[in-house]
Amino acid sequence: GTSGGADRYEITQREAAVEILPGIRTPMWTYGGTFPGPTIESRRGRPITVRHRNELPVPTVVHLHGGRTPASADGYPTDLVLPEGWPDAARTGHGGHGMGGHGMHDPRAAVTRLTRDYAFPLDQRPTLLWYHDHRMDFTGPAIWRGLAGLHIVRDDAEDALGLPAGRRELPLMIADRVFAADGRLDYPALDPSLRERPGVRGAFLAGVLGDVILVNGAPWPVHEVDAARYRLRILNASNARHYELEAVTGDGRRLDLVQVGADQGLLAAPVTHRLLPMAPAERYDVIVDFAGVPVGGRVRVVNRLGSGRTRDVMAFRVARKDTDKSRIPRVLSRDLPAWRRSDAARVREISFRAGRMHGGHGWLIDGKPFDPARTDVTVRLGEVEVWRLVADVHHPVHLHLVGFRVLARGGGRPLPHDAGLKDTVSLRPGESVEIITRFDGYRGRFLFHCHNAEHEDMGMMANLEIV
Ligand code: C2O
Ligand code: CU
Ligand code: CU
Repeated sequence: GTSGGADRYEITQREAAVEILPGIRTPMWTYGGTFPGPTIESRRGRPITVRHRNELPVPTVVHLHGGRTPASADGYPTDLVLPEGWPDAARTGHGGHGMGGHGMHDPRAAVTRLTRDYAFPLDQRPTLLWYHDHRMDFTGPAIWRGLAGLHIVRDDAEDALGLPAGRRELPLMIADRVFAADGRLDYPALDPSLRERPGVRGAFLAGVLGDVILVNGAPWPVHEVDAARYRLRILNASNARHYELEAVTGDGRRLDLVQVGADQGLLAAPVTHRLLPMAPAERYDVIVDFAGVPVGGRVRVVNRLGSGRTRDVMAFRVARKDTDKSRIPRVLSRDLPAWRRSDAARVREISFRAGRMHGGHGWLIDGKPFDPARTDVTVRLGEVEVWRLVADVHHPVHLHLVGFRVLARGGGRPLPHDAGLKDTVSLRPGESVEIITRFDGYRGRFLFHCHNAEHEDMGMMANLEIV
């Protein structure tokens, strides 16, 4: 970093051969040559600038997911960074793999060539963010090929809580992939033959599933731990796979997963789970205590929704006894917004459903596929709103810029894992979920969308204009 001004980072987006499967090189699109990309750690309220240089063969755009970021740096899907030889005319999406945006032109697109400086104020609650590609119609394949990384924001108050830290704090980016025999990544939407493999789902309409589960870029890793508490900061970075995670000991006991944080930072108080459902893009901050596991014993992290090899996610091997000075305070934070229904200026109902578009099948919000030239929802800066989100099938719905709270699910109370401040909420089939938020921070053009990456590419995204 530099003194006085913002901390500066530089990331070169480039093709690289990454060792994911032991002894095999997988050609990937990377942030800086690795998968995941470099983890950035920041302090709350301390602005940073990240210069992204695009040496990939395609346009890219970076979004900091969960970031409280002005529209100019939020990674709008047509604010592309063109690679050196890319023609100017192809400024916006042209309906590549998805069906959204056939030949659409976006008059507001802020296109640059080769590099772009993204300035992030990071004036927000500390939490685990992630950065990923957000190019219109191509987000699914771009993330799949490797364009994803973690970004942790911290502050003094959180540091002082005494949660497990240092090597006992583990960010875990979970993502599924499909590998061809030679180690290349296959995006099954583009290769129908792969759809026959168990665990793989290539049907583009439902979203792409892989048969290899990666954690921080390693297949089914085994991590050595002390017999002590660990803080697991879990991100579901999969394109479309849902998880129901549990931590199971060798003798079949399920360990408590004590949730201390959600997408947008610390809860007010811990919530204990045995089973943690995770939709794409959701983050959970959980404490697991390995103290009761004998040295040499294993704890498997299992996805109850998987089958065969996709049931396994990773394992911990307890390697040694050691002292543990960490704690889980009964009060974690006191700054969670407590918006009430009566604070809301209005209630909107917004539907997430399949439908017909461009003569084919697409995923639509309120009956329409994404169009960068159309404003879908206009809200006033500073106003509180309730949104009733209605789904046909599973849709993890994500709002840019703001965190929200879940008010109601299926007409009833929220579920235990809906606690805290979120930026992505999992709508289950046929369900309606009410969320409440205050649209504060910045004016401008933002997005909300389904974070099933294939649904997003097939049109399930809309413009949110804050005025
Ligand atoms: Cu993680 Cu608009 O996305
Ligand atoms: Cu986002
Ligand atoms: Cu969806």
